Amino acid sequence: MEISLSPLKLKDWDGAVLILGVFEEDIEEQIGKLESPYNSLLSNKLKENNFKAKTGESSSFYLLENTLNKLILVGLGTAKNLLLDDLRKAAAIGARASLGSKGKLGIRLPWELFDSESAAKVVSEAIRLTLFKDLRFQSKPEPKIHPEEVELIEIGKTAEKSLKEVPPICAGVELARELVGSPPNSLTPASLADKAVQIAKEYELESKILEKKDCSERGMGAYLAVAQGSDLSPKFIHLTYRPDGKIKHRLAMVGKGLTFDSGGYNLKVGAAQIELMKFDMGGSAAVLGAARAIAELRPRGIEVHFIVAACENMVNGSAVHPGDIVQASNGKTIEINNTDAEGRLTLADALVYACELEPDAIVDLATLTGACVIALGDEIAGLWTDSDQLAKELIEASQNTGEELWRMPLKNSYKEGLKSLLADMKNTGPRAGGAITAGVFLKEFVQESIPWAHIDIAGTVWTEKDRDINSAGATGFGVRTLVDWACQQKNQE
Ligand code: BES
Ligand code: MG
Ligand code: ZN
Repeated sequence: MEISLSPLKLKDWDGAVLILGVFEEDIEEQIGKLESPYNSLLSNKLKENNFKAKTGESSSFYLLENTLNKLILVGLGTAKNLLLDDLRKAAAIGARASLGSKGKLGIRLPWELFDSESAAKVVSEAIRLTLFKDLRFQSKPEPKIHPEEVELIEIGKTAEKSLKEVPPICAGVELARELVGSPPNSLTPASLADKAVQIAKEYELESKILEKKDCSERGMGAYLAVAQGSDLSPKFIHLTYRPDGKIKHRLAMVGKGLTFDSGGYNLKVGAAQIELMKFDMGGSAAVLGAARAIAELRPRGIEVHFIVAACENMVNGSAVHPGDIVQASNGKTIEINNTDAEGRLTLADALVYACELEPDAIVDLATLTGACVIALGDEIAGLWTDSDQLAKELIEASQNTGEELWRMPLKNSYKEGLKSLLADMKNTGPRAGGAITAGVFLKEFVQESIPWAHIDIAGTVWTEKDRDINSAGATGFGVRTLVDWACQQKNQE
């Protein structure tokens, strides 16, 4: 999809489909900016449709006699309340309404209320990502018909710069959506590792895959315990982005990479939606999507490590027994009182590995707990960190991208719930506060001197319905926030 700035004024614009943002105030006057032939026709139609331009409202008109054959009005509410995020949502609504039309799509929103670079970026991302559809698993795919060329109308020239960032970032999100959407018989630990190596080759990243033997030598007993019940070998993935020039910040991004989570002997039954547990590698998808985007954007001054301890949580004769005691690579022993709390076991060894790289900050993303879904639903991810600075940076990034984060307490006293009679700790605490104890567990594997944040994306990785820039299915949540956060660092001393 080509996205560019139109050199023309709105009234001279010559494409096939036009999205026009409209405020509640003076609807007719705003429509008046369009070419005059539409005016009388439109004002009658608008009255018929009872279009009030409330936020989220839209109305489409077919104007077949002219070059413009579809006009999509999107309500923006009142001007004084408009946020950048509303532009993103309006663009998504408009893009969805353009489905079925071909030709050039134009969009005119009140850019002048924002800086044009940010406005162009959020709107372009929204259009491309709303129109994305994963057709890989259909034998006779029926492609979505939609405009292939997009023009932003009457926006400042400075927007040009941010438009360059849109394709790499969207490709990263689309990669993450494809990885998450892939069924578990297609996306395995080995194929995830292959994909990572392929990304590394294509976009000049360093890559290293640790095999089971290597992980064993490093004492990654927690991670390997999860993997041992599967016929498929675990693959520990480590990609590195290293730009030319002086490195000012070194970052690590760690993603949970369970290509399937059956629960193990604590099998997922009833309402646990075992068939959806292909999405349990959503953290790794976000990390690899960010790797792909960052590698193409090539920000200066930052080195980024992308780490995934990929495996499956399955049941066979060698699988972990509930009650087994294992030892992680930092020496700590864990009683596995519930085999379904497997993500934290894999992350434990991945976090120890990340700390050994001595980065300036670590962020992990994981579909870690059902409890986080209960707490925050499917639009907001949970953020746990002891570092106010890192929380500030990540929340700022999330505000820039519209991927919502809510800071949750990393309550040290909840460690009590993980007390084991025999080992240093259990992997599972009480049901109450389950998303918090998961974070408290992870903290045991991070060096105190390294700022670290944990993001639970169990709710946001997937959506059952079309919402904003997401279509039902995998969202690719986290990619844009990770990229934004990494690129923020290059501006810091
Ligand atoms: N992958 C799941 C978490 C999950 C659940 C993600 C629902 C998305 C939707 C994780 O491995 C898990 O099973 N967690 C358990 C932990 C419990 C046993 C302490 C859970 O949340 O039920
Ligand atoms: Mg589980
Ligand atoms: Zn899991």
